[in-house]
Amino acid sequence: VNSDLFPTSAERQRTDDLLNQLLIEAWERVNNGSVVPTFDRGRFDEELAEFDFRGPVPIDQALLWTIAQMETGLVHVAHPRYFGLFNPAPTFPAQCADRIAAVFNPQLATSTTSPAAVAIEAHVIRAVARRFGLPREAFGHFTTGGAEANFTALLLALARACPEFGSDGARAFSGRPTFYVSKESHLAWFKIAHQAGIGRAAVRLVATDGTGRLDMSALSEALKSDRRSDHCPIMIVATAGTTNGGMIDPLGPCAAFAKTMGLWLHVDAAWGGAVVASDRFRGLLAGIEHADSITVDAHKWFAATMACGMFLTRWPAALHSTFSVSTGYMPSSHADDPYMTSIQWSRRFVGLRLFLSLAVAGWRGYAEHVEHTLSLGEQIKEQLTAHGWRVVNQSPLGVVCVEPPIAKDGRAIVNHVLASGKVWVSIAAFEGRDVIRICVTSGETTDQDINELVNCLLQAFASLSERVGR
Ligand SMILES: Cc1ncc(COP(=O)(O)O)c(C=O)c1O
Repeated sequence: VNSDLFPTSAERQRTDDLLNQLLIEAWERVNNGSVVPTFDRGRFDEELAEFDFRGPVPIDQALLWTIAQMETGLVHVAHPRYFGLFNPAPTFPAQCADRIAAVFNPQLATSTTSPAAVAIEAHVIRAVARRFGLPREAFGHFTTGGAEANFTALLLALARACPEFGSDGARAFSGRPTFYVSKESHLAWFKIAHQAGIGRAAVRLVATDGTGRLDMSALSEALKSDRRSDHCPIMIVATAGTTNGGMIDPLGPCAAFAKTMGLWLHVDAAWGGAVVASDRFRGLLAGIEHADSITVDAHKWFAATMACGMFLTRWPAALHSTFSVSTGYMPSSHADDPYMTSIQWSRRFVGLRLFLSLAVAGWRGYAEHVEHTLSLGEQIKEQLTAHGWRVVNQSPLGVVCVEPPIAKDGRAIVNHVLASGKVWVSIAAFEGRDVIRICVTSGETTDQDINELVNCLLQAFASLSERVGR
């Protein structure tokens, strides 16, 4: 047995203790330090090149080096002053779940090999589906993220529109399959259409209404005009929490329209879906219960560790008819084997992250988490508008897009803020204009962090104004 790869229990325990200590100390420094990378890239590249794998390096040394690079060589998305894209500070139970999964390394392809793990994931999926108001039979599975879940939706919609799609591909359609998303949607849809073999032109980007929400009359026109030509519309996608502006497309009207037109309705609630945890705010998602399928990421507002999304559908049989395959070598081929009902084959036990988080905090704990984020979003708006900044979106989900009091290059402001290392914000395009996008993504962000954010933005604006004035 190679003892570097498979050390004794005593050695594992010693290394585990060291690792724990190193991580706690490093995270403490990160929390009080820069949000943006501070390392010397040239030196890092040289050190990395020294790992030529010709001989072994002691594990303590390898761990120390790796943690130091993580500490200094990342944008710290888990930092309380990271106000960025929807990457969370992970919950502690989710981190524990990763450790447990790493030790047992269960294979979740079949329920025969991992009956307990498969059942735990299914239990969480059902609980989340119920919470969205989907019917009892609704089901789904964990995915690597929102993009995979959205891909799953497209495959199911294609199969429903044309059952021969699975065997014959796009040529099974009498015309070109198309689907409809707003121009503010997450543009992985182009990659998804490409992967599905229907081509990127299948994505119909529908106009928004000036507030970042899908425009129903533009949708209706686009669809009807496509139907008059040689296109075969198959699906409407409503986004509940757009990436740039945190806006919610009109879910009820989309559901009614999809029904009239006989199309699949998918709701991409990758970020916004977590608002379902809050009894106070879940009404924002009214209409989602009519969806044929829903994407919701556990690794966004539910704050699971990375690569943890969910796909839910009210038509579980469609999963089986789309993904089932027969093999002689798999330990089982039951209807509920995950490899028979999803894109992946071998799969990691990612659902444990949400299971443990929900188990220890309950829906109520997540409601607090969501409501805390929303109240901090309100604070950001209040403070910045008090200084003459304009909020250009009206997101009910706490994504705040702003412009400074006098037209300035938003990118220059953002660069100035990032150079301070104190906070992280980004530039986004909202309704065709560049705006500064701010989103609270950490459950540990405090009022002081908001003050720091606002100060940084005000300082950046003042210093750029001075420079121009000089
Ligand atoms: C609305 C929306 N859908 C889908 C995605 C893609 O999700 P993932 O990055 O988890 O694949 C994102 C990512 O930010 C998103 O905001």
